[in-house]
Amino acid sequence: MRQSGLNVSVAALLLLQLVLLLTVGALAQQHDFPPEQVIVNLDLPPKQRWTQVATKYSAQIQATVNFLKQLIPMHDLVLPVANVIGADIDNYLPMPYSDEIRGVAEAARITLGEAVLCNIIYDITSFCTSIVAQMGNGTIIHARNLDYGPLQGVLRNMTIEVFFQTNGSTLFYGTTFAGYTGILTGVRPNVFGVTINERDMGNILENALQALLKKEAVPLSFMLRDALANDTVTFESAVRFYSRTQLIAPVYVIVSGTQPGEGVVITRDRQYILDIWRLDPAAQSWYVVETNSDNWNPGQDIRLETAHKSLDALGPNGINPYSIYQVLSTAPVLNNGTVYTTVMSASHPEWFSTMVRLDIPPYP
Ligand SMILES: *[C@@H]1O[C@H](CO)[C@@H](O)[C@H](O)[C@H]1NC(C)=O
Ligand SMILES: *[C@@H]1O[C@H](CO)[C@@H](O)[C@H](O)[C@H]1NC(C)=O
Ligand SMILES: *[C@@H]1O[C@H](CO)[C@@H](O)[C@H](O)[C@H]1NC(C)=O
Ligand SMILES: *[C@@H]1O[C@H](CO)[C@@H](O)[C@H](O)[C@H]1NC(C)=O
Ligand SMILES: *[C@@H]1O[C@H](CO)[C@@H](O)[C@H](O)[C@H]1NC(C)=O
Repeated sequence: MRQSGLNVSVAALLLLQLVLLLTVGALAQQHDFPPEQVIVNLDLPPKQRWTQVATKYSAQIQATVNFLKQLIPMHDLVLPVANVIGADIDNYLPMPYSDEIRGVAEAARITLGEAVLCNIIYDITSFCTSIVAQMGNGTIIHARNLDYGPLQGVLRNMTIEVFFQTNGSTLFYGTTFAGYTGILTGVRPNVFGVTINERDMGNILENALQALLKKEAVPLSFMLRDALANDTVTFESAVRFYSRTQLIAPVYVIVSGTQPGEGVVITRDRQYILDIWRLDPAAQSWYVVETNSDNWNPGQDIRLETAHKSLDALGPNGINPYSIYQVLSTAPVLNNGTVYTTVMSASHPEWFSTMVRLDIPPYP
């Protein structure tokens, strides 16, 4: 009796330990983590710039391609059009992107059409929150959540911070996904920072590909990177450039500078600028928040309302890199589709930091 009782309790203890181990194991995978930092050497020929990254992340890039193919309806023209563009990539996409995408396709072992699809899909279908705020002492801070359901699982596994360098010094940097050559979140240190949020207008992916096919417009993430890479760029010249370039899809471009008052949300149609909304600290307008609705017609947007409440409670003197991260960590601003949170400031390059989000609070 005694013996078997002991055995039972030992077995129970072992079982308990196993359950604990499994739980801790599962929890360990649930924690936020900083993404890998990689360097892209702009002195290399474009085709070689991403070889290391795309080779290392080839399994994740292939998984994303397969996931995308499942999501896109069979009858849809998206994949055939992406293949047409891929087959004649120099004709449809500008340098250095065409050659960089070639290099990605080769290293990740996907077709050029698949690589083209991967390189334009995120700029037009991401659901996000971006904030630019002016701190009490005049410093401009910029932060964003990038939300991308239902691909958040694979994207969290391929989020990277990229430092674009020439001659060993960093010209600009950003948070991106392995295999993606454009920028959705970026900073030119001591000049400006920029993020984009989707502005959903109907059959956006197919329209975007058609616009590319007609060579009318450039992908949004290429436009973002072009200004970041420009040696003579200023905050205002970037804002003008982002306001005027013909695009493959409507979008919100959120730009932050280094001087008090330098923060804007540009609302874009494919061809035209619809609105420019600026910080106006003199009029108590010390922050702008953009989710995925027009600022003059926000409708019911619970992420926006939640972010406003948090920012108002903090006030300009309560804003710092840590507290703005907390604003972006409040449900449902942070939600189960959130891939990463980035905090940045053009005037404080050392504040740049990204966390891949896995600790998602339950939404009340
Ligand atoms: C503003 O405050 C931040 C810290 O909260 C500090 O790092 C920064 O240097 C200050 N800027 C100025 C211009 O005082
Ligand atoms: C992400 O990577 C982890 C660790 O390699 C893996 O267990 C998990 O299945 C991956 N998730 C997705 C959605 O690919
Ligand atoms: C890189 O360094 C070389 C040699 O010092 C110099 O000639 C070149 O102009 C530099 N390039 C850039 C982009 O600074
Ligand atoms: C990029 O640089 C060129 C000159 O080199 C300038 O004419 C152009 O306006 C710049 N673009 C931006 C966005 O600043
Ligand atoms: C994500 O959140 C949404 C809304 O809050 C919910 O409907 C959905 O079931 C959640 N998905 C997962 C995988 O938790």
